[in-house]
This record gives sequence, structure tokens and C-alpha cells, in this order.
Amino acid sequence: MHPYWSQNWGNAASQQHREGIRAAAAVNLAREQLASSLDVKPKQILFTSGATEANNLALLGYARAKAKLLKKKGHIITLQTEHHAVLDPLRQLQKEGFELTEIQPDSNGIVRPEQLIQAFREDTFLVSIMTANNEIGVIQEINEIAELCQERNITFHSDAAQAFGHIPIIFNSGGPDLMCISAHKVYGPKGIGALIIKPNIILEPLQWGGKQQAGLRPGTLPVPLIIGFAKAAELAQEDMTNRAKRLKDLRNELWKTLKTNNSDLLLNGCLKNRLPHNLNITVPNISGSKLHRELRPFVSCSSGSACSSGEPSHVLLSLGRSFKEASASLRLSLGRDTTITEINAAAEKINQVINQLKTAAN
Ligand SMILES: Cc1ncc(COP(=O)(O)O)c(C=O)c1O
Repeated sequence: MHPYWSQNWGNAASQQHREGIRAAAAVNLAREQLASSLDVKPKQILFTSGATEANNLALLGYARAKAKLLKKKGHIITLQTEHHAVLDPLRQLQKEGFELTEIQPDSNGIVRPEQLIQAFREDTFLVSIMTANNEIGVIQEINEIAELCQERNITFHSDAAQAFGHIPIIFNSGGPDLMCISAHKVYGPKGIGALIIKPNIILEPLQWGGKQQAGLRPGTLPVPLIIGFAKAAELAQEDMTNRAKRLKDLRNELWKTLKTNNSDLLLNGCLKNRLPHNLNITVPNISGSKLHRELRPFVSCSSGSACSSGEPSHVLLSLGRSFKEASASLRLSLGRDTTITEINAAAEKINQVINQLKTAAN
């Protein structure tokens, strides 16, 4: 990214001078790199400021364009456990007159095909189901859902912000029609993401002002961020298989150690279809605020999403956890460089804090 902050400062939309042409060439190359890591065509990629904007553009942009075309507002299906970057634009569409069904997944956090089939209506035109959950890491049966939608001529959108770069993703051959990703989930820069679009999907822009990206997402492109995004995606792709295996073993070790010490611990989401670097647990019968306060100096963890502003997690509530249980939950994420020494240290500290709070409560 470095030279594009200073020496190569051209605007990729300025095609009348060399600086601009150089910037555009770098963006084109990055777009090609990203396209190849997703196995899509470069023109299927629309750069945005992140997955939040990409989800908004996909959902609001598609629903409004479709309603204009059909001259009526239809029905949309999603999950209660989606990220707010999906739930909030969909609830906005509801205010605009669209109908919305939010399915409660099973107690493992997975939506079953029968649930989806039951929710389909004659006027269902859009389904939005995330690839992997950001809090509990569970992975949905995306290809099966895509097939169910395709059979009914329903457009399928998936928020893949958490999955991209961590598990294999299929888009063009059997995947969703619209997919959103974000660079900072794969060690790329914050403030850049993308919407991946299948041909023939209509979209109404959310903003107007220029001809960049075919007018679908106008505005000067952040050249260094785009270059950083493509590089991060390439690096994530390179070590994905090995990293997934290593982190899965470490994650399972962490869970085993914690559970051995506290047999009443609850696992949130199933262990089988789950992102390898995610663990989310509930500690019953203790205060969530005390648990987090005691752990804060030692372990960086949360009880929910960074976008939830401290409220009890809607994901955990949807799985059937109580308010108290949801706040006494730990969302633990392992990183590319996490070691067994760190896992052991974290497990020891978490066990110690749980024991201390339980003793104080008795
Ligand atoms: C599943 C999911 N969707 C959307 C987002 C929002 O992404 P961004 O921060 O790139 O806007 C996040 C991350 O916070 C996420 O985990």
C-alpha cells in the first residue's frame, strides 16, 4: 500500500494524466487479484467502504430496483441471528412497505432447509442468510440454500464478511447471487470491502455523484486500501488450509480445557460446522459484567458484536439464552499468530476468574 499514500497519489478516475492512469492500472490489477481469489470476473466486484455498506447496497439496492421493475413490494426472508449490517437495512425496507420474515435458527444456530421452505411465499423475491456467523462462527449450508432459492427464482444474498479468507467460498458455480466481504477480517485495512454480484442482478445505487464503478457506487476510489485488500486476500488464501487446521486444533484445546474445569459451561453454536478460529461460551449463574471486568486486563474478548454497543447479544438470545446468560458469555477469537502458550494462558486465566466468581457467589 505504501507508495500509493505518497509517491503514486493519482486519482484512478483521472485518465488525462500519467498519475491517474498509473493509479487506475493499480486498481485494475488489485481487482483482478481479488477476483481470482474469489474465482469471479473482475467486473463482478464493486468496492465499498466495508461489508456494512456492501450489505446496504445489496439489500436496499436490489429490493428497490426489483420493486420498481415489478411495481410491487414483495417478501424477504432472513435470520434473527444476522449481523445488524443486514438486519437494519432489511428493517428499513420493512418500513418502506416490504414484508420481512426473520427465521429463528435451531439451537445450534443453523437454519434447516425445511424452515426455509416453510417460510417461502409466492411473493418472496429475496433471501439473505450469512455464510458464517460473526459471534458464534456457525457456517450455514450456503449451497443448499442457493439451490432452494434458484429453484424458485429467488435472489439470494449472503454476508460472507466472516467466512471470506477463512473457509472455501463458492460464488459463481452454485453460490449466492450477491455476496459481501470486508478486508479487515483478513488482516487487510479497515474501511474497504466489496459487493460481489452475479450478472443480471439489478441494483439501484444508494448514492449519486460520479461515474465511478458504473455509477453503482460513485466516489473516488481509495487506491491504497484497494491494493491492501487484494494483497490481504491473496495472503489469506495462501495459508487458509493450514491456518484453519492449526487454529481448529487450538480452539478445540481451549474448549476442552475450559469445559474440563467447568462442566456447566455452555457452548454457543455447534462445534462441527463452525469457523475454525471461533469459540463462544456461556458461563451460567455468574454476573456477565463482573466476568468481563475481571478478564479485561488479561484477555481481549467480548460478549457480542463490535456493532452491538454493549447490549446483550441478539444472536445468543435467539439461540435461547437468557439475558443474564447472554451477558455472561465470552466470544473468543483466535488469530493467525495465536500460539498454544497463549491458549494455555488464556484458559488458565478464564478458569481462575470463573472459579473466583463462583466462590464469591456461594
Ligand atoms: C458478519 C459481518 N457483517 C458485516 C460486518 C461489518 O463489516 P464492516 O466493518 O466492514 O462494515 C461485520 C464486521 O463487523 C461482520 O462480522
